[in-house]
Amino acid sequence: MSGSVLVTGGAGFIGSALARRLVTVGYEVAVMDVLHPQVHTGHQAIDLPPSVRLLTGDVTHAPDWDAVLRLCRPSQIVHLAAETGTAQSLSEATRHASVNVVGTTQLLDSLSRAAHVPDQLVLASSRAVYGEGAWQSGSHIFYPQPRSHAQLVAGIWDPQGPGHDAAAPLSSCAGRTEPRPINIYAATKLAQEHLLAAWATAHDTNLSVLRLQNVYGPGQSLTNSYTGIVALFARLAREQRSLEVYEDGRIVRDFVYIDDVVEALFAAIERPAVQSRCLDIGSGTPTTIHELALQVAGICAAPEPIVVGKFRDGDVRAAMCAIEPAKNQLAWCPRWALEEGLRRLLDWISEQAELRSATAEHAAPMKLGPR
Ligand SMILES: NC(=O)c1ccc[n+]([C@@H]2O[C@H](COP(=O)([O-])OP(=O)(O)OC[C@H]3O[C@@H](n4cnc5c(N)ncnc54)[C@H](O)[C@@H]3O)[C@@H](O)[C@H]2O)c1
Repeated sequence: MSGSVLVTGGAGFIGSALARRLVTVGYEVAVMDVLHPQVHTGHQAIDLPPSVRLLTGDVTHAPDWDAVLRLCRPSQIVHLAAETGTAQSLSEATRHASVNVVGTTQLLDSLSRAAHVPDQLVLASSRAVYGEGAWQSGSHIFYPQPRSHAQLVAGIWDPQGPGHDAAAPLSSCAGRTEPRPINIYAATKLAQEHLLAAWATAHDTNLSVLRLQNVYGPGQSLTNSYTGIVALFARLAREQRSLEVYEDGRIVRDFVYIDDVVEALFAAIERPAVQSRCLDIGSGTPTTIHELALQVAGICAAPEPIVVGKFRDGDVRAAMCAIEPAKNQLAWCPRWALEEGLRRLLDWISEQAELRSATAEHAAPMKLGPR
């Protein structure tokens, strides 16, 4: 199947990789992106094939949307444009709500003005919507309160269950785990899901929501200090610095390689939803931050990571997901093991450093219009 796809935020990490994938099989791809300086500073060129139409525009700005929809009437829209700084969203809530929430309603209003109903809307949502997620103590499943500052100061790392019995986190699964966002970024991502679902239902079209775990790999921003523990560890380990691991090292995440995420999005586009769906996308393998640090340090022959007992308010203790529903519904399967993906990321960071020293390549931002 092919057709025309508009990718918002398509100059970013995930969007540009998806655009490259789509053109290889004949999709007509347009990208709407504001080329946000927090993401696109530095020397990382915007890596889009010449056949991709790059339309610089701001998703919060109605005239930009109207111009985009005059230039293309996509059969599918993949909505990726977002402010993604979890910690930053606490002090810049309006900016996050404006881009993530109002940017989504502007998309919907512009479709209404253009009287255009795409065959499918695809949203990259986030595992952040689950907050601390569901935990189990004995046979009892519960949703813990966010960990308080006092609790973290006391070094009580696991969320507390009823009766303070030992508890273990469960893999999140959209079909059974309640979303309970505990930070502003997460709340805006959940709002995006609800807004798109309401519009899709009313217009008799379909929505695919993919809740992504921690995505890493070549192409991720190396200059945006607000995202990406993997890129941060990789940068520090390459400089032979020892990695600081927070809490007791046993924060759990699911690190999923960029190519696996692109294949999941691609599968969602190729096999449009027959009814709206919400799926979790990860590697399916939980990893502690200490294990991640050990692997990165090992590959770079950097000093042993140190578990420092520091913490960040608002971090969740565990995030991992069940990927069987996505495997079944998308006929998709993650292929990249963590070590292999980390090696590929580290090679790419080295290539970037070499490129920077050889030549200063900049992609000049363009005004709204065809490329
Ligand atoms: N990377 C991850 O680990 C991860 C995990 C879960 C969910 N997601 C979601 O995936 C999507 C893409 O993430 P990413 O990692 O590629 O981020 P990214 O920051 O690399 O890309 C986002 C793109 O959106 C653009 N953008 C920002 N504000 C905009 C605006 N007002 N108008 C138009 N474009 C704008 C930026 O210029 C950037 O190119 C986001 O919606 C994010 O919430 C990412």
